[in-house]
Amino acid sequence: MSIFYNDKQRSFRLDAKDTSYMMKYTEEGYLCHVYYGKKVPDEDLGYLLRFDESPRTPLENNRDRATFLDTTPFEYSCFGIGDYREAAFKILDDKGMTAVDLRYKSHRIYKGKPELEGMPATFATDESGCETLEITMEDKPSGLEAVLVYTAFDKLDVITRSVRVNNVGSRSIQLTRVLSACIDFDTDKFDMITLNGSWARERAVERCRLHHGKQLIDSIKGESSHQNNPFVALCDNNTDEDRGEVFGFNFVYSGNFFAQAEVTQHKKTRFVMGINPLDFTWLLEPGETFTAPEVVMVHSDEGLGKMSRTFHDLYRGNLIRGEYKDKRRPILINNWEATYFNFDTEKIISIAREASKLGIEMLVMDDGWFGHRDSDNSSLGDWFVYEKKIQGGLKYLVDEVNKLGMKFGLWFEPEMISPDSDLYRAHPDWAIQIEGRPLTMSREQYVLDYSNKDVRDYIYSMMRKILDSANIEYIKWDMNRQFTEIGSNFLPANRQRELWHRYVLGVYDVMNRLTTDYPHILLENCSGGGARFDPGMLYYSPQIWCSDDTDAIERLKIQHGTSMCYPCSAMGAHVSDCPNHTVGRNTPFRTRGHVAMVGTFGYELDVTRIPQEDRDSIPAQIEEFNKYNTLVRTGDHYRIGNVFEDNTWDAWMFVSKDKTDALLEFVQVLARPNERSRRIKLKGLDPDAYYYEESEPDRKISGAALMNAGINIAKIWGADGISGDFASKILHFIKT
Ligand code: GLA
Repeated sequence: MSIFYNDKQRSFRLDAKDTSYMMKYTEEGYLCHVYYGKKVPDEDLGYLLRFDESPRTPLENNRDRATFLDTTPFEYSCFGIGDYREAAFKILDDKGMTAVDLRYKSHRIYKGKPELEGMPATFATDESGCETLEITMEDKPSGLEAVLVYTAFDKLDVITRSVRVNNVGSRSIQLTRVLSACIDFDTDKFDMITLNGSWARERAVERCRLHHGKQLIDSIKGESSHQNNPFVALCDNNTDEDRGEVFGFNFVYSGNFFAQAEVTQHKKTRFVMGINPLDFTWLLEPGETFTAPEVVMVHSDEGLGKMSRTFHDLYRGNLIRGEYKDKRRPILINNWEATYFNFDTEKIISIAREASKLGIEMLVMDDGWFGHRDSDNSSLGDWFVYEKKIQGGLKYLVDEVNKLGMKFGLWFEPEMISPDSDLYRAHPDWAIQIEGRPLTMSREQYVLDYSNKDVRDYIYSMMRKILDSANIEYIKWDMNRQFTEIGSNFLPANRQRELWHRYVLGVYDVMNRLTTDYPHILLENCSGGGARFDPGMLYYSPQIWCSDDTDAIERLKIQHGTSMCYPCSAMGAHVSDCPNHTVGRNTPFRTRGHVAMVGTFGYELDVTRIPQEDRDSIPAQIEEFNKYNTLVRTGDHYRIGNVFEDNTWDAWMFVSKDKTDALLEFVQVLARPNERSRRIKLKGLDPDAYYYEESEPDRKISGAALMNAGINIAKIWGADGISGDFASKILHFIKT
């Protein structure tokens, strides 16, 4: 049992593996947050609330009620009743009023974890031992009930939250914000860690000390975005990679989000996370329900590293699904950086022919195979084969690739429509738009109105025709622009502001159909690189393209940031050609391989044209990938270097769960003069065991020594004997 209710104290305690989370409601029904942190045995810590401080509680003393409510640690804060901090819940009722006051009504505790209708969420498995608490709160005047849903994971330091709002009354109510989580911490001594960036430099780690006022990240672009990832960690000022307390929050959602830490007048911190309330309203008619997406909360008392490993375990075991969940992914070669739009059947076959000889297992044909697409200015929505380029048809091409012993994968961008397309000419009203306003283009395309089921049905039926026409075993689902002129020709005026969220639900609907109808297809998400690298997408696709920046050195930062909460097994990472197409940098082919090995691994280059020496090294590179892939996919990940703090080197490890096998990867980003070696301390090993490095079987070193004293990594000289910049090395430690 992991959830306890004490009737006398009106208190709840949820225990995850080594975490406790406690709440209590007052006689008046206010649900208060009591504690979140390392596991404690006590049933009730109600003494922490001011309610118990005097026989006459401030709530009974009506004179001070508002002042008091502004400091009460509400578990789900409501707007308009005297709590002036950020609200989690706000409405606009049929009389134009916005106040709402949720009070405890009832609760239930049950085994397992419910699904969220139409939305991604983590799930229970036979092993995970989940228990769920649902607390029903009511606001009698509006007729609304909010069901706060909490699940505690027995074997992980994870608690998830979501909210269901039911209109059980007789009035039409507009919901103007329904955040998914709100937590009042009793301190302001926090640093806030976020993952921010831009196209080609996604998820850079930023850390800042909280100060009075509100510090937030959000997206209002229609997707989770390149700029801010829906992840926040709040940690003690002294927390580092291996020590200190940290609370990690990740939103299982792929659209507009909002995450904010607010330091209040009394130096406490309120953290909220959910769908961005900006430009959001949802009309809830009597009898209807609205469900807010899930927030995953991870607690660690051993620094950021343990927080990340908990997220990784949760997502690998309890979020990612499908045939490839626990499988090595085929080594693919993608023609995007090889050809861009300039290819035809012969070119694709020539790449496949060469790739197959080297041990590459799948050919992915990227953008440009449909409609009459020769550049990014046409044909999105016309999901039929561009015969001029794909001479002989798709089936012929796929068969030829299959004959080479390779699988075949295909690129789609199903959410978009080009003004120059048959689809747009037939259905200009299917684009998201506002009548009477010019439609803003981005990458010469518009966004399809996925709130409209007809649009979804049509696009999906076209995709099906293609998928049924040939042996397609992989899809790259891309999404390449943000939203403007947010209006739908399909929704009535009083539901227009629902479009943002209905769009995301529409995308989930089509992804759900696709993964149900084609369970054998490996789905990889992508959004102009990594603009939708979020847990919502991971529920449908076991891997996501990290970034359009494939430079090995830029990738150190991108993959370090991504690993904060997403597992390496999900990171789309390829070896590409040099000079790199995004930054113009030249790096050794070997380093590019070592960096791509951290993720799903593949190639993104014209294998018929790269230097012979690089081509020759591919079979050995693949062998190396194969040797370590199980460890990378299933092991524990430890960050050792931090390129955000010192960009002259980086290192990380993967350690098998039983600690018998460990891989250390090291990148000497810049060779430093007058330095013969660097001392690196290993992590995650068994201190009591002895290990040897594979190339030195006779030298046994204890795990304790490897972790506390470390090893020396000698300066790496470049192949030319002069420059060792961007050089890399891997070491394999095996338990004796
Ligand atoms: C996006 C993707 C790329 C590629 C192009 C094709 O930018 O991130 O990998 O697929 O689209 O247009």
